Amino acid sequence: MAKATSFTAFLLMSSLFLSSHFSVSKADNSAPIVSGLSWTFYKTSCPKVESIIRKQLQKVFKKDIGQAAGLLRLHFHDCFVQGCDASVLLDGSASGPSEQDAPPNLTLRGFEIINDLRARVHKECGRVVSCADIAALAARDSVYLSGGPDYDVPLGRRDGLSFATRNATLQNLPAPFANATAILSSLATKNFDPTDVVALSGGHTIGISHCSSFTGRLYPTQDPTMDQTFAKNLKQVCPTANSSNTTVLDIRTPNKFDNKYYIDLMNRQGLFTSDQDLYTNSRTRGIVTSFAVNQTLFFEKFVAAMVKMSQLSVLTGKAGEIRANCSVRNANNNSLLASVVEEEARSEY
Ligand SMILES: *[C@@H]1O[C@H](CO)[C@@H](O)[C@H](O)[C@H]1NC(C)=O
Ligand SMILES: *[C@@H]1O[C@H](CO)[C@@H](O)[C@H](O)[C@H]1NC(C)=O
Ligand SMILES: *[C@@H]1O[C@H](CO)[C@@H](O)[C@H](O)[C@H]1NC(C)=O
Ligand SMILES: *[C@@H]1O[C@H](CO)[C@@H](O)[C@H](O)[C@H]1NC(C)=O
Ligand SMILES: *[C@@H]1O[C@H](CO)[C@@H](O)[C@H](O)[C@H]1NC(C)=O
Ligand SMILES: *[C@@H]1O[C@H](CO)[C@@H](O)[C@H](O)[C@H]1NC(C)=O
Ligand SMILES: *[C@@H]1O[C@H](CO)[C@@H](O)[C@H](O)[C@H]1NC(C)=O
Ligand SMILES: *[C@@H]1O[C@H](CO)[C@@H](O)[C@H](O)[C@H]1NC(C)=O
Repeated sequence: MAKATSFTAFLLMSSLFLSSHFSVSKADNSAPIVSGLSWTFYKTSCPKVESIIRKQLQKVFKKDIGQAAGLLRLHFHDCFVQGCDASVLLDGSASGPSEQDAPPNLTLRGFEIINDLRARVHKECGRVVSCADIAALAARDSVYLSGGPDYDVPLGRRDGLSFATRNATLQNLPAPFANATAILSSLATKNFDPTDVVALSGGHTIGISHCSSFTGRLYPTQDPTMDQTFAKNLKQVCPTANSSNTTVLDIRTPNKFDNKYYIDLMNRQGLFTSDQDLYTNSRTRGIVTSFAVNQTLFFEKFVAAMVKMSQLSVLTGKAGEIRANCSVRNANNNSLLASVVEEEARSEY
């Protein structure tokens, strides 16, 4: 999963705007707020934050819809490693730009997109919106603008002060090689049930992956759970186990956020072991089928799982800071200034 990134430009631009009408509002959202976040956090201090982000991302995705998957993944990585505190964005963190085996450039581009959104939002409102909240909203808009559900995101996260270490990253992110049992037990420690796990895996309905994340299923011997024709085509794209090529995660509708990923799994055309095994494992197979036959159900469960995920170990109140640059912690003198600006913003209530 760490290697899966965004990408591909084959999209018919029109499909960007064919977003479904499905939406989940805070009123019928089944995931309760348990974290100190709020549905109305920026109502007074930055009422335009959501429209600024959505408008800008519409432009970004019109040029390259592949960025949507990268932004979704970025929020996912942020939340799973040390909580949704934008630690993943810090220069020098395990997934950050300075790391030796940093993820491919497309992910790095995601960092730039977040920083650009941050600049636009701060220009409008001052330094009141956290990078972690911007990442959560960008993930939501990536889903929606790719054809998925619209939903409300609880806000008020603060940005963390420490890097996510490479070890923490490796320990907390499910590997593409992991089987369903391993993923279920890893995510159970964060309070996700099998329905959440299958729903969040549906994020692979968009995006691409490098060969190295799945060639273990092709060489030296082929994974027997893989469809023959699918395997044959993958071997062409990845002639060697270490090929640097990439391929799409959802062969049916690679850039559209829909439930076709689950149809892929039922046809044994899931790319990663962590995908395909969801249909092999008896605890998750029925859930895969239920999402494959009912997209509304998938969207509903996906939204609930995302809202739950977006509250993992968040910092609120006076914890952390509001970064002036999502890639770096505020310098001490800056953070002093930042807290003054924030206090002024709060006093508008
Ligand atoms: C990634 O970025 C580096 C440096 O900016 C560049 O040399 C390289 O060509 C890029 N690779 C891809 C696949 O875009
Ligand atoms: C990271 O994990 C490796 C082995 O998994 C271990 O050798 C190393 O000491 C760890 N580093 C830190 C900083 O915990
Ligand atoms: C799943 O993976 C774990 C850890 O790699 C392994 O111990 C276990 O045997 C695997 N289970 C199945 C059913 O393959
Ligand atoms: C990349 O994939 C193409 C087919 O899509 C293949 O012809 C080429 O050899 C591959 N390149 C590498 C470096 O694996
Ligand atoms: C990829 O693996 C092949 C052997 O399978 C080896 O000859 C080649 O040097 C490797 N390439 C890279 C870039 O590691
Ligand atoms: C699909 O799921 C939705 C949401 O749970 C439910 O309301 C609807 O009845 C389901 N549709 C079918 C055909 O089962
Ligand atoms: C943010 O910080 C990074 C890393 O220090 C730096 O490269 C970049 O130029 C900064 N961006 C802005 C807008 O100041
Ligand atoms: C304030 O921080 C900047 C770096 O952001 C540094 O260059 C400058 O020297 C600092 N000023 C003081 C008075 O500490």
